[in-house]
Amino acid sequence: MRLVHVVLDRDVAIGATDRRLFGAFVEHLGRCIYGGLFEPGHPQADHKGFRRDVLALVRELSPTIIRYPGGNFVSGYDWEDGVGPVENRPRRLDLAWMSTETNLFGTNEFIDWCRAAEVEPMLAVNLGTRGGDAARRLVEYCNHPAGTALSDLRVAHGWSQPHAVKFWCLGNEMDGPWQMEAKTAEQYGRIAVEAAKMMKWVDPSIELAACGSSARNMPTFGSWEDTVLDHVFDHVEFISLHTYINNYAGDTAAFLASPDLMDSFIDEVVAVADAVAARRRSAKRIMLSFDEWNVWYRTRRTPEARVRPGWPVAPPILEEIYTMEDALVFGGACIALLNHADRVKVACLAQLVNVIAPIMTETGGPAWRQTIFYPFAQMSRLGRGRVLRAQIDSPTYAATYFDPRGAQDLHFPLDSVPYLKLAAVADDRGGVTLFALNRHLSEEMPLQVRVKDMRGGIVEEAVTLHDRDLNAVNTRQNPDRIKPVPLAGVRVDGHELRATLPPASWTVIRVAETR
Ligand code: AHR
Repeated sequence: MRLVHVVLDRDVAIGATDRRLFGAFVEHLGRCIYGGLFEPGHPQADHKGFRRDVLALVRELSPTIIRYPGGNFVSGYDWEDGVGPVENRPRRLDLAWMSTETNLFGTNEFIDWCRAAEVEPMLAVNLGTRGGDAARRLVEYCNHPAGTALSDLRVAHGWSQPHAVKFWCLGNEMDGPWQMEAKTAEQYGRIAVEAAKMMKWVDPSIELAACGSSARNMPTFGSWEDTVLDHVFDHVEFISLHTYINNYAGDTAAFLASPDLMDSFIDEVVAVADAVAARRRSAKRIMLSFDEWNVWYRTRRTPEARVRPGWPVAPPILEEIYTMEDALVFGGACIALLNHADRVKVACLAQLVNVIAPIMTETGGPAWRQTIFYPFAQMSRLGRGRVLRAQIDSPTYAATYFDPRGAQDLHFPLDSVPYLKLAAVADDRGGVTLFALNRHLSEEMPLQVRVKDMRGGIVEEAVTLHDRDLNAVNTRQNPDRIKPVPLAGVRVDGHELRATLPPASWTVIRVAETR
């Protein structure tokens, strides 16, 4: 491949990354909670039943905020079932995942787990089978200090200090027919605005995200955001987006190109949100919460991978095993998020443990890192700062991404996909980190990056995720089959960096300036 050029200027930034861009998600789904992060009796469990081996991997992954309790699950959840003495908690049928929910883990256990994992909690309220009243009561239970029936109930349950949950989701994917009590945009907008008003009357310091479309290919995408935001504009700070990237077509080139559709999705939601603002002559900018994103397809449409008969407790469902190829696409999604740091202020990798997750466990056994663990951990560790506007001159290719979700199969033509997808982040320690995806399947990429105002630098870190076998995976038996390795030959001379990226690779290079 010919030399690929990138030009950066540390004075020209897209925006600063919000720390909540590096979030994740845990749902009452399969073995995410039970047998994942919570497993009383496991040799690694602490006195609360939290697996210490999982906590250690979570700290290494470094998510900043975690969304809970769903997901589809939340649309049928009665939060009251999950608080109070464990022996009194009801077992219920969960119609989202056709499982039995024991309620041994609930809101207070989640808050404790977040404190142990050193992450901020994010709660979603049920706007499916419940509504504003249940939502405002949950805010009062969690956040009101004391002196009312609900806040005193929390104190009586053993949590004397308020949980101070700042970020709340107004339901989940309410446009989806798979959701319990799905709604039209009008219906949802009305319910969401009333819930939002009451939740903020209880605690004016909270921030709220309204449900956007559950995917870009939903038939109501665009008009849903427009109608919902018309209702909630004055009462929320965020609109949500969800994306699960697939390779049903077995087309690696198109799969690698598909994170570019996340860029388009973000731009489109920004456009609709700003159009709603324009109609109101408002300077307010609704920010984006990309509160579910990942690669997911192998365990998505196959009934056995999704539902187990007999209403089991914590069945092993949605346990996607991620390949080297998936990690590359996942890295491309990280780059898309970083490059929209001006408007995407919150994002949640869906999910965290066992269920479409970077961390896998064996119930009663060990925990290990999937391939997608690495791009996320690197993005969270090195992606904090100002994202620079990169001028990229790369050869391109054409691809067509296939998305079978919904009633009709969709084909998205991508006519001009740059082989290089890149984000550059300047941190407050004077360093610049490059996150680079070489999408060429067979050719190395010679790369030249000029940082206009840099007079010299040293390469502090240069690692790459690359393997000839794009189907390679990490397993319990071979947990380190795929992991980043040092990238040799990265040189900095004055304001210019040179590197050669392996074919089909994800690379992270941090340069610290020497003056
Ligand atoms: O993350 C898995 C599921 O995907 C979530 O429950 C739902 O919100 C989405 O459709």
